[in-house]
Amino acid sequence: MTADTDPRGRIKRLRAELRHHNHRYYVLDDPQIPDAEYDRLLRELQALETAHPELITPDSPTQRVGGAPLEGFTEVEHAVPMLSLANAFSAEEMQDFDRRVRERLGADADVTYLAEPKLDGLAINLRFENGSLTQAATRGDGARGEDVTQNVRTIDSVPLKLLGADWPPVLEVRGEVYMPRSGFEALNQRQRTNGEKTFANPRNAAAGSLRQLDPRIAAARPLTMFCYGFGEVGGGPLAETQSAAMARLKAWGLRVCPEQQTVQGLAGCNAYFDALAERRDGLDYDIDGVVFKADRFDQQQSLGFVSRAPRWAIARKFPAQEEMTELLGIDIQVGRTGALTPVARLAPVQVAGVTVTNATLHNEDEIRRKDVRIGDTVIVRRAGDVIPQVTGVVPDRRPAGAQAFVMPDHCPECGSDILRAAGEAAARCTGGLFCPAQRKEAIKHFASRRAMDIDGLGDKLVEQMLERELIQDPADLYALNYDQLAPLFLQPAALEKGQESKGAKNLLAALERSKETEFSRFLFALGIREVGEATARALAAHFGGLEGLMGADREALQEVSDVGPIVAAHVEAFFDQSHNREVLEKLNHAGIWWQEASPASERPQPLAGQTFVLTGTLSRPREDYKSELIALGAKVASSVSKKTDYVVAGPGAGSKRDKAEKLELNILNEQGLIDLLSEL
Ligand code: IVH
Repeated sequence: MTADTDPRGRIKRLRAELRHHNHRYYVLDDPQIPDAEYDRLLRELQALETAHPELITPDSPTQRVGGAPLEGFTEVEHAVPMLSLANAFSAEEMQDFDRRVRERLGADADVTYLAEPKLDGLAINLRFENGSLTQAATRGDGARGEDVTQNVRTIDSVPLKLLGADWPPVLEVRGEVYMPRSGFEALNQRQRTNGEKTFANPRNAAAGSLRQLDPRIAAARPLTMFCYGFGEVGGGPLAETQSAAMARLKAWGLRVCPEQQTVQGLAGCNAYFDALAERRDGLDYDIDGVVFKADRFDQQQSLGFVSRAPRWAIARKFPAQEEMTELLGIDIQVGRTGALTPVARLAPVQVAGVTVTNATLHNEDEIRRKDVRIGDTVIVRRAGDVIPQVTGVVPDRRPAGAQAFVMPDHCPECGSDILRAAGEAAARCTGGLFCPAQRKEAIKHFASRRAMDIDGLGDKLVEQMLERELIQDPADLYALNYDQLAPLFLQPAALEKGQESKGAKNLLAALERSKETEFSRFLFALGIREVGEATARALAAHFGGLEGLMGADREALQEVSDVGPIVAAHVEAFFDQSHNREVLEKLNHAGIWWQEASPASERPQPLAGQTFVLTGTLSRPREDYKSELIALGAKVASSVSKKTDYVVAGPGAGSKRDKAEKLELNILNEQGLIDLLSEL
């Protein structure tokens, strides 16, 4: 048969090529070809397999989501039991562990440990026979778990066929399936929009996804996996050390945590632990500690096991991020745009080293979905610099007479009606700037650093000014005089003695300084709904000045990259309000000014010819920056190459950052990008 009539060869080559690109994309996060080319190859393979169904194999890249929903999961007996780890909760317990290891080994010198995050996901055993994934099972009770092969096959970063050819005939790899934080946020957002149940944390979301009987549901969930150990391995040991064995897993296309690293002795363990604790919040996955393993397999063997945990490994735990406490009441907070947020008033509780007394409950629907009632014992989670949240209740502890929450129908601050627009989660006070809470937040926002940057005008001062009725709107700030301000800084006795207020003078000077600003800052400061910094910058760049912007109708507004119908409607509505136009007039009279620019259509593009790659977590959606860069003439690519000019790396940036370093490219953090944009 010739190559034309025998599709076998083509199918084989296509599969190899697709596996290679799949690995580049999902494991190395460094694609070499555009998505469209990948899709073309996949479609070609699909077409060939449809024409020749007898050639389909379960490890073909087309076979990730296959099979009908299961009736239930079957039980799997683990060839080698899946054990647990002993914990260390303090530096002393860690020291004891290292001492015991050295004593048992009779080692005077430092032991080399392999250190890596303790991932907060689900332990899974992958079984590969002759390089093909044949089974995936949960840990279960350690001896028996559940067969979740159908679902694990949908995880794109888990190879259905190992790369290379030097794998043992039987290879069981263990690791943690988890949901990245970014994916978790997006999933919860989606669930909320669809009126479906949200997940309390990424771990629960990952567990819930793997427990789906219909693999199509699991396929739609952003799961991934890091590998960290082994079960049954045929044909002799893989290497002499755990770290060398891990390197082989990587070469076979499995994902290994990039934080994994060997360290020397107790001092090395402690330094690693402290450094990772510092960076914990910036990672894109939840971890609850660090696992240390004696790196040499011969040492692991001589240390052996005690009860159900190895003597050669330990998990040093971070302080817990979730605690229980009593829900004393639910207060309503009114935000700058009138959105009402129910806030839990809690019996004080320590969470990850901080006393928490308040936590957000998001909105009415969330409260109903979680069935949170006043008097309940609730679970409070504080992760990183995210504000504390109530993630659920402990039903067994519900006291008799626990009260359901009712959203008020009038604003608790101003008495205005409360409306909830169709399709919106938030209920809003309709009072606008008549509502003192909204007014207060609007003025605070106006003065804030990223807006008009009025140095020294903090929340407290704004509150005092409003209480004393010195101001009603942001423009009134510029009419304040020394005699009005001095009493806010000095005690009455000091005032009477004729003492001068430095604070008042400084604030007046800061107000004066803030008058010279940039159009984009001014726009952001106005607090138009949905107009964040990036959108304000895009609008400013497009229209050049206030006149052009105010004259633009919805259609003209939507010509700005990043501005869709909703933002356009908010912008138009803002400038339609006579009250807002009056404030603008007053600000103009007060002498606010900025350098006018010509509209974008008449301007050169300062970033023309420059290519950017954005990676890691940024404080605003990547799309915001992307559209702004594009508006300035730049190209934004998804992978790093020699042709990249700038890599913008937020916390949690992984292989793209590494590659940028290797290629010695310009690497900026988010602030660096903001600075660069503001210098243009
Ligand atoms: S090694 C012999 N490494 O922790 C046990 N486990 O408490 C080998 N886990 O069920 C386990 N991250 O789910 C190991 N980097 C890591 C881990 C890790 C999370 C989990 C795993 C296991 C549990 C044991």
